[in-house]
Amino acid sequence: MTNVPLLDLKAQYAQIRAEVLPVIEAVCASQRFILGEQVLALEAELARYSAASAGVGVSSGTDALLLALMAVGVGAGDEIITSPFTFFATAGTIARLGARPVFCDIDPVSFNLSPTAVADFVERCTVRGGQLINPDTGGRVKGLMPVHLYGQSADMDPLMAIARRHDLKVIEDAAQAIGTEYKGVRVGSIGDIGCFSFFPSKNLGAFGDAGLCTTNDAELAERMRVLRVHGGKPKYFHSLIGGNFRIDELQAAVLRVKLKYLDGWTEARQRNAAYYDAAFAAAGFAPRVVAPQAAVNGRHIFNQYIVRVQNRDALKDHLTERHIGTEIYYPVPLHLQQCFAYLKHARGDFPESERAAAETLALPIYPELAHTQLDHVIESVGEFYAKAGARQAAG
Ligand SMILES: Cc1ncc(COP(=O)(O)O)c(C=O)c1O
Repeated sequence: MTNVPLLDLKAQYAQIRAEVLPVIEAVCASQRFILGEQVLALEAELARYSAASAGVGVSSGTDALLLALMAVGVGAGDEIITSPFTFFATAGTIARLGARPVFCDIDPVSFNLSPTAVADFVERCTVRGGQLINPDTGGRVKGLMPVHLYGQSADMDPLMAIARRHDLKVIEDAAQAIGTEYKGVRVGSIGDIGCFSFFPSKNLGAFGDAGLCTTNDAELAERMRVLRVHGGKPKYFHSLIGGNFRIDELQAAVLRVKLKYLDGWTEARQRNAAYYDAAFAAAGFAPRVVAPQAAVNGRHIFNQYIVRVQNRDALKDHLTERHIGTEIYYPVPLHLQQCFAYLKHARGDFPESERAAAETLALPIYPELAHTQLDHVIESVGEFYAKAGARQAAG
């Protein structure tokens, strides 16, 4: 039977092996592993790629978020508005700094933070000394962290308008969204800071953990560079308390090779998405399978291809039997995670996030997929609903 893994990084490695091994060897030969010429070059190349004036390479996407929050001065008593339907790090980094994540529900089509939900929350806030105050907690609402989930931009215009009106810092969680565009503008250059992840499964993946912060604010860039090395500048003189958030030279060297291929890989992902879309539409799968909707005025980079489906868990089991890899991103929205019980949320607080957690499934979308593999996924999905239809008719 045709095998379709969720992701096949070995196929990508076969393409770049001859180019990537010599740059690794060159870094090893130099024995310069920390903040050297590869990091500097990568930062410049990725800042340009993301239409930002500066890039600060860091140790992971999580550390990018942590560093960004530290750079804008988030701490105890502060609150950051964000989505409950995202990877844990989005809210985890807020909480690690002693700040409070304030969840607002998502838009059910894009799965991204709903500007209407954010506006409704902000409407309920009071303003004291020009500072937005959460009426439920008395905390200072200091910022907004939209997530560009799965590689599609959040609806940034209304979110930025709210942020400007209330002087909120905007940190874009662009971990899944390298090269994503919103109305022709690259994400990571829209808010105050953009945070990217180069976890191996991302469109631009390192050979381990790595990340990047982008900004158009020279002061913030400098602050992040200092915070990245424990807040020491000059070395051993600390005006700030930072951490070790450095990216390795080896990772930077690998990422620079891969960056040359990134647009080609992203276009292949987009072609695969279009192939699924057309097949699902032709087969009349809706409403049992709802394909992801890419905004017409954006650039969706399809880090993930997420369908909303009926009978999700049984479909996942069926696809596993058919040797097709799938994943649930994410089965438990953050407001219902045990570690956030202190936020006192209950089931039903964010119904669209809860519905997305129960109904969505990631299908294989990686660039090297063959048509035979895509066809096997499409046929297997069809087979599942045909069987379900037959069972229903019989029962
Ligand atoms: C939305 C989001 N935010 C943050 C992160 C954290 O990135 P990393 O795994 O590189 O720490 C991820 C990684 O998957 C992510 O998907």
